[in-house]
Amino acid sequence: MVPRMSEPTDQLPDVSNEAWSGVRRGPLREGEWVRLVDSKGRRHNICLEAGKRFFSNRGHFEHDELLGREEGFTVTSSAGGEYLVFRPLLSEFVVSMPRGAAVVYPKDAAQIVAMVDVFPGAHVVEAGVGSGALTCSLLRAVGPQGRVSSYERREEFADVARQNVTQFFGGDHPAWNLTLGDLAEALPESGERCDRIILDMLAPWECLDAAATALLPGGIVCAYVATTTQLSRFVETVRVHGGFTEPQAWESLVRDWHVEGLAVRPGHKMIGHTAFLVTARRMAPGQKPPLKRRRPAPGAYGEDYTGPRPSPQS
Ligand SMILES: C[S@@+](CC[C@H](N)C(=O)[O-])C[C@H]1O[C@@H](n2cnc3c(N)ncnc32)[C@H](O)[C@@H]1O
Repeated sequence: MVPRMSEPTDQLPDVSNEAWSGVRRGPLREGEWVRLVDSKGRRHNICLEAGKRFFSNRGHFEHDELLGREEGFTVTSSAGGEYLVFRPLLSEFVVSMPRGAAVVYPKDAAQIVAMVDVFPGAHVVEAGVGSGALTCSLLRAVGPQGRVSSYERREEFADVARQNVTQFFGGDHPAWNLTLGDLAEALPESGERCDRIILDMLAPWECLDAAATALLPGGIVCAYVATTTQLSRFVETVRVHGGFTEPQAWESLVRDWHVEGLAVRPGHKMIGHTAFLVTARRMAPGQKPPLKRRRPAPGAYGEDYTGPRPSPQS
């Protein structure tokens, strides 16, 4: 089939390269990734190449049938299978890209960007980089005038992240710096200062001193932890440190809804738990947060409690 070129109607120009958004407008071009979704919701991500053919269990079609068209159409394969064609959104890209380590889910990345107040021009430090999912959201939020310094101690994960982030943004994002090393040592060695630090790792409490030294007064530390034991240890370590405000901990649950005529009900399936988030703000040097007026719940720090202990007056 001859490719149908898009009509140049009332289009907006393509998104400027200088925005480093990872988003393109206009006709699909060679080298771009598109996401195909079939009638059963199965997804395929393909990189468009002139002369190449896409195969599935529902036959095939030529990439040339997609090239030059505006996204948002249906293509039919040789065996009658229909596929929706769109450019992937960031939230779709991060859950389908190759993974080294578990990724921060889009619902949590959204919470981090909003609740950790990641702003254009901010200098953000994150560790570990894992597969680079959160990195993409942070780079989007700080923009090319900001800076995201990612630390990762495993080279194989750093390589996966570099590939994913480069693919998403279509090149080397000018605001991104990736350091191979343990944040607890490499961050103090770098001497860098920052507005925000995101710790997505097994033992974020081991990095709290480094985070405290790097964070500017008013800056925010955020930990993303999967278990209650990690949550407890991080919160108590922040309290014992004394140079942060009282930590806040929460999680977010997102439930889809089925909406069809009179059948309007919550979806049967949901991702029940991803991780907990904890944030605290850095006090100015030598400053302490006000003493807590409320006593701990009886037994909270009883003999069974073995974690970091706040001093009696704090
Ligand atoms: C769950 S993954 C991070 C996922 C990543 N945030 C994403 O969205 O793709 C945790 C990563 O932290 C790394 N890591 C653990 N402790 C670290 C440390 N102290 N410094 C640097 N990286 C660390 C691990 O090697 C692993 O790759």
